[in-house]
Amino acid sequence: MNALVLRYNNIAITLHWLMALLIFVVFPLGVYMHELPLSPTKLQLYSYHKWLGITVLMLAMLRVFWRAKNPPPPLPYDTPNWEKAVSHVTHLALYFLLFSVPLSGWLMSSAKGFQTVWFGVVPLPDLVGKDKELGHLLELIHQGLNVVLLGLVAMHIAAVIKHKFIDHDQILERMLPKGKI
Ligand code: HEM
Repeated sequence: MNALVLRYNNIAITLHWLMALLIFVVFPLGVYMHELPLSPTKLQLYSYHKWLGITVLMLAMLRVFWRAKNPPPPLPYDTPNWEKAVSHVTHLALYFLLFSVPLSGWLMSSAKGFQTVWFGVVPLPDLVGKDKELGHLLELIHQGLNVVLLGLVAMHIAAVIKHKFIDHDQILERMLPKGKI
């Protein structure tokens, strides 16, 4: 089988690693800032968190659009059916979270009465009116979705480690910049 046809293309690879990097910053920042006492620093960190989170949402839209036009390479022909099914469901759930996590944050900020001004330059519309109870509910939803995201990312990384060190296949290399396979 020709290994070249099994690779993701460069745009898909760039979007994947850029989003992974952003999530590895936005997630711990969210946990850290949440614990801080009220201060100008806390508010500044909230802004950074919101700007980067909205960037994740934009990249997620771009990624889904790109994926629709550029289907991912097929899994190796000898992948067991159960593994294909688990991989499919996990990837679908990750896509769902790439949208629902930032959207729930944006909705929460709107309900709490804090408009998001992307990178301090582009004012985004509030998605709902100010509503304290709804704000609290959306905060719980944002937290809950983040817990699910954490679990799925851990599963995703565990699967990559299994492929690399147990199956000794080239699943990881498919998502690495050119030259590796
Ligand atoms: C991929 C995108 C995002 C990730 C991974 C993420 C992750 C998190 C995490 C882990 C927390 C801490 C929850 C806790 O410890 O209780 C948090 C809190 C928060 N997030 Fe996000 N978030 C994202 C996007 C957004 C967006 C787009 C907004 C708003 C526009 C936003 C607004 C907030 C706010 C305001 C809090 C603090 C809640 C509070 O302390 O009242 N987030 N986020």
